Amino acid sequence: MKYSALKGVHDIFPPDIYTWHKIEGVAKDIFSASGFQELRTPIIESTDIFVRSIGETTDIVEKEMYTFTDKGGRRITLRPEGTAPVVRCYVENHLYNLPSPQKFFYSGPMFRYERPQAGRFRQFFQIGAESFGAGDPKIDAEILSMLKLFFERLGLEGLNFEVNSIGCEKCRPDYRNALRDFFAGRIDRLCPDCKRRYEKNPLRILDCKVDTCIELKEGAPHVTDFLCGECREHFDAFVSLLKLLNIPHAINPNMVRGLDYYTRTTFEVTCQNLGSQNAVAAGGRYDKLVEDFGGPPTPAIGFAIGMERLVTLVKSCSIDGIPAPAVFIAAIGAPGEREGLRIADQLRKKAVWVELGYAGNSLKSQLRRADRLSSKHVLIIGDDEIKSGRLKWKRLSDGSQGEIAISEVYDFFE
Ligand code: HAM
Repeated sequence: MKYSALKGVHDIFPPDIYTWHKIEGVAKDIFSASGFQELRTPIIESTDIFVRSIGETTDIVEKEMYTFTDKGGRRITLRPEGTAPVVRCYVENHLYNLPSPQKFFYSGPMFRYERPQAGRFRQFFQIGAESFGAGDPKIDAEILSMLKLFFERLGLEGLNFEVNSIGCEKCRPDYRNALRDFFAGRIDRLCPDCKRRYEKNPLRILDCKVDTCIELKEGAPHVTDFLCGECREHFDAFVSLLKLLNIPHAINPNMVRGLDYYTRTTFEVTCQNLGSQNAVAAGGRYDKLVEDFGGPPTPAIGFAIGMERLVTLVKSCSIDGIPAPAVFIAAIGAPGEREGLRIADQLRKKAVWVELGYAGNSLKSQLRRADRLSSKHVLIIGDDEIKSGRLKWKRLSDGSQGEIAISEVYDFFE
């Protein structure tokens, strides 16, 4: 019987894992410099948390959640995104009692039962960040600036920042009505999901991925034309701060996002090189969600980056070397193997990457392996070397070689 990974999930192994490490390291540095601290939440949560926040009529909740009943009869969901769990944690642990804004970042796997294709998986990873307690558009601009710096540090170019405001609960009813009026004459041609959404949540029709619905939404009213005075002021201030910080951006009045919890600012970072799944990061404000979860009124904003898409971009433009052993110790005979093992043990104590040859392999095959691993140096150790107390070393990159006392090996390699 042959086993294979499930559809839409994937293993991550060398050399790709080094790109993952690099991205995670840059994220930690850049996000920490803006005061975001790491938070780890569980991968499983009560299903209600997602239904309530992401919204009953969204694709994620209607079609994509991995939900099951556990042995205690609880409805449990593998998290499809990271914001709702962070909000749950913030409210449950009364983190709103700490000075605001409270800022967190997280990374880990998310699960959505989507149709797999390039850049779209059923298990995918996100790095996300969430800020609680500041409604000021300044923080919206700070977050976009942090994202821009993050992508720059990874050497990425050609990214587009698209921004929009989708208003608040005051402006939303008028916009919903305008959408219903617009789609009234087209209901018959909408997909069955959107027919339902027409009554319950017509905004979701704008996010539908069915071809006919995409055509039918052509010319639909823009949410930005329905913003109340305060939302308009907030959006204008945000956009002027983007200019101040030199963040090139486009206002995309069609961007409504696929999750219901957003209010006011929304944004996406896209890249043409990614093909049809071109959003590498996305986010926005969710000023009502903390209250919905039973906390005090707390404006909040955040984003999530799709790791697999980002890894593709970073790999396409970086020429980073793959890590390789600093030393390969080839041994001849049992005493040589014992001494080689002792030296490796010493060097590994100072985190030098050492590889060893193993019993039964000829010197030739050990050296071939050293070469395949792109080892930086090779040491050869046998009876003669042990007797003289001196080792031969060779640097594989330029072929240079020399001798060194066994007692000095520890200091020779960094
Ligand atoms: P989202 O737009 O659903 O937002 O996902 C954010 C990013 O995750 C996407 O732009 C994409 O790069 C990646 N992504 C989403 N689904 C998949 C998939 N099936 N396969 C591969 N990558 C995927 C959120 O998740 C919000 N929680 C973002 C947020 C945080 N808003 C406020 N705070």
